[in-house]
Amino acid sequence: MKIFINRRIPEVGIKMLEDTGLEIFIPEHENLSHDEWMSYCKSHDAILSVGMDFKFDKDFFNECPNIKAIALYSVGFDHVDIKEANQRNIPVGNTPDVLSKATSDVAFLLMQAVARRASYNFEKVKDGNWGDFEPLHALGQELYGKTLGIFGLGRIGFEMAKKSKAAFDMDIIYHNRHKNEEAEKELNAKYVSFEELVSRSDVLSVHANFKPEQKELFNAEIFEKMKPDSIFINTARGGFHNQKDLYEALISKQIWGAGLDVTNPEPIFKDDPILELSNVCVLPHIGSATIEARNAMAKLAAENLIAFSKGQKMPACANP
Ligand code: DGY
Repeated sequence: MKIFINRRIPEVGIKMLEDTGLEIFIPEHENLSHDEWMSYCKSHDAILSVGMDFKFDKDFFNECPNIKAIALYSVGFDHVDIKEANQRNIPVGNTPDVLSKATSDVAFLLMQAVARRASYNFEKVKDGNWGDFEPLHALGQELYGKTLGIFGLGRIGFEMAKKSKAAFDMDIIYHNRHKNEEAEKELNAKYVSFEELVSRSDVLSVHANFKPEQKELFNAEIFEKMKPDSIFINTARGGFHNQKDLYEALISKQIWGAGLDVTNPEPIFKDDPILELSNVCVLPHIGSATIEARNAMAKLAAENLIAFSKGQKMPACANP
C-alpha cells in the first residue's frame, strides 16, 4: 500500500508505517500547485492528510479513484464528506482524545488572557508604556465562581470545563446534541437550551464539531444576547462565528472580549480590524501544538493506516 503524506509529521508515526513495510511518500516542500498535490493523491492508495490542504468531497473522490483510505492528522473532519466516503467504502481515520488536553489548555489560556487583558498589557510593555501603578488602570476581571458555558461538551469541552471548575470553581452550563452524564455527575454541569447558554454565560467557549448548517451560528443576533461582561472563546472552527459581527460586538461593548485560536477566514488577514482590538487575543490555530499531542496524533494516524492495511477496522474512525 502506497501512502501519500502531505506534510512532515513527527518521526514516531513515520517509523511505525515504515516498520510495517508500508511505502510512504512525503513531498520535499509544501509550495506545490493544486495539480501537483492532486497528482500525488491520484498515484497513491491512501493519504495521511495534515491540515486543510484537501477537501475530500465527491470531486476529490472522482478525481482520485485509487484512494482507498484516509487518515486525518486531526480530530476535526469537517473537510470530509463522510457520506460520500461511506458510499465508496473509504474509512476516514481521525485523532480524537489524544489532543483534548492540549486543545482545552489553549481555550483555558485564552479565557484567562482575555479576562486579564493580556494583549493590551503586552502591547503596553512592548511600546515602552509600562506606566505607573494606577489603581484604576488595566483592570481585568476574575473568573472565580463565574458561569462557563460550553457549546459542544465532547472530549475537549469536558477538559475545558474540568480545568475551569478546578481552578476557578466555575459553574458549568452546556448545550450539546446529547446530555453528557459524566460531566453532569463529575462537574455538576447543567444542560441548558442554546438561548440560555448564550444569555447566562460569563464565558462562552465553543468546542463542537463543525457542521455546514452551523455556519456563523455566532453572529450579531447572538452576540447581542450575550452579557456585556462576557467573553467569547472559539478554539473549534472559525466557521462557527461571523468575524465582522464579532468585531462589531466588541467595539460596541456588547461583549467584553474574545479569544480565538481559529478565525474566519483562516488564516486571518493581516489587516483584519479585529487584530487591532485590545480586548481580543488571537492565536494561529495551535490547539494541538504540543510535542506530546502531535506525537500521539502521529501514532494514532499511523495505527489507523496500519489497521487498514491489515484489513482491520481503524481504531479511531470518523465514519459511523
Ligand atoms: C483538529 O485536530 O481538528 C485541529 O483543529 C487541527 O485541525
